[in-house]
Amino acid sequence: MAKLMQLKLDGDGIAHLILDNPDERVNVLSALFIEEFLDILSQIEKDGRIKGLILESAKPGVFVAGADIKWLKSLKTAEDCRSFAINAHVPFNRLEDLKMPTIAAINGVCLGGGLELAMACRWRVALEHKSVQIGLPEIKLGVLPGGGGTQRLTALVGIQNALQLACAGKTLRPEEALRLGLIDAILPSQGFVDEAKKYLVEKIESGTDYRRPWHDPDYRYGVNQEEKNPEARKKIFETSRQLTLKQTKGHVRSPMKIIDAVETGAEKGFRAGLLAEQAVFAEVLCSPEARGLVDLFLMQNAMTKVYGSKDRSIKPADVKKVGVLGAGLMGSGIAHSLIAVGKKVVLKDISEEALNRGVQSIRGIFNQDVQKGRMSETKANEIMSLLETTLDYEVFRDVDMVIEAVFEDMALKQKTVREVEKYIQKHCIFASNTSSLAITELAKASERPENFIGTHYFSPVNRMPLLEIIKGGKTSELTVVTAVSIAHATRKLPIVVNDCYGFYTTRAVGAYLIEAMRCLNDGADVGVIDSAMMDYGFPVGPITLLDEVGHDVGAHVLTIMKQAYPERFSDELTKVTVADGRLGRKNGRGFYVYEGGKKKGIDETVYSLFKSREDRKMVKEEIVERIVMNLLNEVGFCMGENIVTNLVDAEMGLVFGIGFPPFRGGPLHAMDEIGAGRVVETLSQLEAKWGSRFKAAPYIIQAAKDHKVFCR
Ligand SMILES: NC(=O)c1ccc[n+]([C@@H]2O[C@H](COP(=O)([O-])OP(=O)(O)OC[C@H]3O[C@@H](n4cnc5c(N)ncnc54)[C@H](O)[C@@H]3O)[C@@H](O)[C@H]2O)c1
Repeated sequence: MAKLMQLKLDGDGIAHLILDNPDERVNVLSALFIEEFLDILSQIEKDGRIKGLILESAKPGVFVAGADIKWLKSLKTAEDCRSFAINAHVPFNRLEDLKMPTIAAINGVCLGGGLELAMACRWRVALEHKSVQIGLPEIKLGVLPGGGGTQRLTALVGIQNALQLACAGKTLRPEEALRLGLIDAILPSQGFVDEAKKYLVEKIESGTDYRRPWHDPDYRYGVNQEEKNPEARKKIFETSRQLTLKQTKGHVRSPMKIIDAVETGAEKGFRAGLLAEQAVFAEVLCSPEARGLVDLFLMQNAMTKVYGSKDRSIKPADVKKVGVLGAGLMGSGIAHSLIAVGKKVVLKDISEEALNRGVQSIRGIFNQDVQKGRMSETKANEIMSLLETTLDYEVFRDVDMVIEAVFEDMALKQKTVREVEKYIQKHCIFASNTSSLAITELAKASERPENFIGTHYFSPVNRMPLLEIIKGGKTSELTVVTAVSIAHATRKLPIVVNDCYGFYTTRAVGAYLIEAMRCLNDGADVGVIDSAMMDYGFPVGPITLLDEVGHDVGAHVLTIMKQAYPERFSDELTKVTVADGRLGRKNGRGFYVYEGGKKKGIDETVYSLFKSREDRKMVKEEIVERIVMNLLNEVGFCMGENIVTNLVDAEMGLVFGIGFPPFRGGPLHAMDEIGAGRVVETLSQLEAKWGSRFKAAPYIIQAAKDHKVFCR
């Protein structure tokens, strides 16, 4: 087995522990890493020749990137989590307890367990370079620093700074880390390790005490009078708890647990703080949100490796130039994503005005990049020169791919297919950005249905990471592989699904929106519906979402969904608001009132449009149950119909596509949390009360019978 680190003693009695995992691009803490590390510490403890120790990395730009996420994933039971938490302190304590001066030479990314290692050294010096990032981002995975990080960070930077850093998972540049006292010096990149050694040797020669003051049982944290004053300290923790609760809404418990551990350390000392950290670490490790967020991280990684076919001998076609049909919201966004990565684009619309608007909006995105210093003006101009506009198809003769983003209309889309195919070459791929129409049906207009595919982008294209790729009945594997390669090239995360009306994400968002409308019709308040779903964890409530998307657009898509799935979808309620002249934010009239584009409050007159009880009393729990069950049931149908074929697509499609709460890990994680049996029971209760639209999907019924767990 390859060694992950090497110990070298130099002629001056300084030991260099060089971290260098030969099989990976980065160093991470894993079971093997810790095993080797502890062995080496035993050697160091016994070696009387060593005067001082430098922890360094041979990986350019990376000290230690954190813990191996797969290691966290391997913890299945509460007992696994408990023993993991207990063992987690050992290497850091032993490093800190070495009877010699130690220094961490931070040459790049130093996060999570990496920073905990560095903090267990007596000194920390960082390279003067933009690749250096220092922080404890564990809360992003629903966990917390469990290697003594909550305590050593507080000892080094004080209570308030530690809470801010660890509870927000913030990473720091070296200058800021130095200002806070988290590191001791920034050293030049030229001869960095030699400089770090010089720093250490100077400390040794000047006889600086290498022991940590917090090992004294009477030592208490605090970098200023406020933190040292018990009453003021109480206030600090109280405020921090209030703020954290506001931010997390209690969904992710780890920031609150960090506060608990820091408070114990602050009141009772370092050792008590470590024990408190151990206890809360074990608790958060087996929390559902940690499971969800850890899986999400792994799934996101998996998405970057999607190929689009099991047959890797099928190589993606080379796409140099793309024709984009429609310069509206989506067409211009898609064109932007392509030219931004060096593809030539010809953008077609039916009027100069539409083309100008499209070009302006693309230029606008680059202008923002220039203003924010992310791109030079020259670079922006250079990229814009890759964009050509046209009102006819002549210039489509040499495109390798066409992406269509005209209005959502089957006849119009099929007409454009027939028109464009008169010009494009045989190898050219045709991708439709339809949000709801079946690809197989659209492809009937094509002479080369094997080249036809769906590429469903999300708005705004420059910010939304997902690309839903839809295989039509006759789509070739080469076409799929090429579409996937375009997703990767434009830095999108692809899911590949099978075809039907609404495919996966639109069916899911349709289920989310329609049940919200039905709740409204059955006596729920607009604001209560929105806040109920935001409390569940969605970034915006469904009613606000309809105002944003536009009631006309929503009604149009729901009509298509109703035609395809009449047993579950309907469009009557959205049609009612459209008929009343409510289009949402775009015409300043929706469920909410808008003034100068700003959302002002609920438009009370909207209630007169709905069959409604006297007073609106439906409570949040009922609203959440109805909407979430309707959504999960639709996911069940999509799985059962083989529209979605794997767990990653099922989860990430909704987290990235419709804002399903990430800390829930995705709809199947959510279903696991409730239990398939309980989902079926709840659906049948809802069916008894509200009708057959809640009939449980056969896939979920089967899962309940099999006691299936989807994600563990
Ligand atoms: N808006 C969204 O959030 C969103 C998200 C995903 C997918 N989509 C889908 O993307 C497509 C476009 O939506 P949008 O929001 O960009 O619409 P839009 O109204 O902003 O733009 C459509 C553009 O197509 C142009 N057009 C019409 N006929 C044309 C033709 N024959 N040739 C060239 N251009 C033509 C129109 O002039 C207009 O500029 C639709 O199918 C929609 O369902 C929209």
